[in-house]
Amino acid sequence: MTGGIQPSHHALPERPLPSLEDYLDTGGLEGLGFARHHSPDEVIDVIEAAGIRGRGGAGFPAGRKWRSLANAIGETDQGFVVINAAEGEPGTFKDRALLRRNPWIVIEGALIAARCIAANRVVIATKAIYTEELARIRSAVAELVAVGATGDVQIEITEGPDHYLYGEESALLEVIEGEDPLPRQLPPYLYGLFTASPNLGWSAGSDQSPGGPTEASDNPALVNNVETYAHAALVCRHGADWYRSMGTDESPGPTIVTITGDVQQAVVAEVPLGLPLGQVIDELAGGPTRGVIKGVLSGVSNPVITPNLLELPISHEAFGAAGTGIGSAGFIVFDDSRNMVDVAYQVSRFLHVESCGQCNPCKTGTQGITQALESLVLSTATSADIDLIERRILTVTDASRCYLPTQEQQVITSLLQQYPADLDVRLAGFPGDLDVPLPKLTNIADGVAHLDPQAGFKRPDWTYAETPVRLTIG
Ligand SMILES: Cc1cc2nc3c(=O)[nH]c(=O)nc-3n(C[C@H](O)[C@H](O)[C@H](O)COP(=O)(O)O)c2cc1C
Ligand code: SF4
Repeated sequence: MTGGIQPSHHALPERPLPSLEDYLDTGGLEGLGFARHHSPDEVIDVIEAAGIRGRGGAGFPAGRKWRSLANAIGETDQGFVVINAAEGEPGTFKDRALLRRNPWIVIEGALIAARCIAANRVVIATKAIYTEELARIRSAVAELVAVGATGDVQIEITEGPDHYLYGEESALLEVIEGEDPLPRQLPPYLYGLFTASPNLGWSAGSDQSPGGPTEASDNPALVNNVETYAHAALVCRHGADWYRSMGTDESPGPTIVTITGDVQQAVVAEVPLGLPLGQVIDELAGGPTRGVIKGVLSGVSNPVITPNLLELPISHEAFGAAGTGIGSAGFIVFDDSRNMVDVAYQVSRFLHVESCGQCNPCKTGTQGITQALESLVLSTATSADIDLIERRILTVTDASRCYLPTQEQQVITSLLQQYPADLDVRLAGFPGDLDVPLPKLTNIADGVAHLDPQAGFKRPDWTYAETPVRLTIG
């Protein structure tokens, strides 16, 4: 890595820490010590003063969430702290990097949260296929239990399925309860884990054991991203002012960026928020593979970042004001060899396949849009396909339980509006590339992004075909 930007190692060490002892040498568990010597209210004050924003995508203020959970958990409730380690956003590898290199800091942050909201169960919800991370988590938990750091808090691990929706927070709770990853009507702070009360028609939890939750228990659950908990541990260790010495007023602290796509080298690195995105891509990832950057996607969750926005500081406020967002700081770069209609097809196909189908406009809307985009890429589309995209993009979010179809609406609309010449090329009969990679990452090593070779084989019913799945008929 060259240039002026030097990655930091506050949460993410350069290499995996070997043991708890090494973590203690870096100041590990000092944050938990601080939390144990202060009241929950005082600790939440510090988290709020630091201004930590959730690193799972939406940037919700962590202190505000913790305070509302602390207030919401009643006497008959059992509180839960849930670590969202499902990491399924295309182009994002930060949570797995963190869990591989420093699992203790994540668990420390969750133990601090448990103290703040009076929870005695912490659930680490990750995927069964993340075997390397699971091994690191298990041994870190064992070490922490052995030295008594977990106190009376029980730590459990859920090994969930490899579906995008698993990372959606209410679907995550379903999986922890042994169900499929289907988003709920109610969010985790209203309807948590193993409650006996019904969730608007969905199955109630199964914990009817003596002393278990009662009809009156909603068991609100605190769900935060892996990196968010790591930051809570750092803030309790170093203080709010230290945290605010990095980043911007509204987006303080460091963040772990993942940069993949058409770049010289794929990278996962911790940098302060507030650096210009273009500079980070140039200096850490070596810039575009060919020509110039044509567009950048932050996962598949926000409108495309066009080249004129590359000067913007990486922050929620700057990208929000420009009509897009930084998501979970997983930036997928496309150079000017790409036709962005082909990119739109990949995004829509991914979201359609991953949609669970509980809300008809979402599953059928993303299907129609994907089929029309596939025809465009094949250069067989007619004006009827454009009309269909325009109609379905307006209704795809109708009666939606979760944010997935909003992502479809935002990303696809922006890609088609921002690159009209690319659309003209496909309408003029020049076929494109049905296989532009949308990085479903399995690893980043030595500057190379490793992608899941099965990604294009997944069917909309979540089974796998033996050849890449196309959606157009005939
Ligand atoms: C379709 C979908 C997938 C998501 N996947 C993830 C994920 O893999 N990891 C994650 O932390 N958050 C994911 N989220 C966001 C979570 O629902 C939730 O907002 C987050 O875990 C809250 O943590 P934070 O406040 O610390 O950011 C997803 C959201 C949606 C709508
Ligand atoms: S909006 Fe789509 S992905 Fe979300 S619950 Fe409904 S059908 Fe499933």
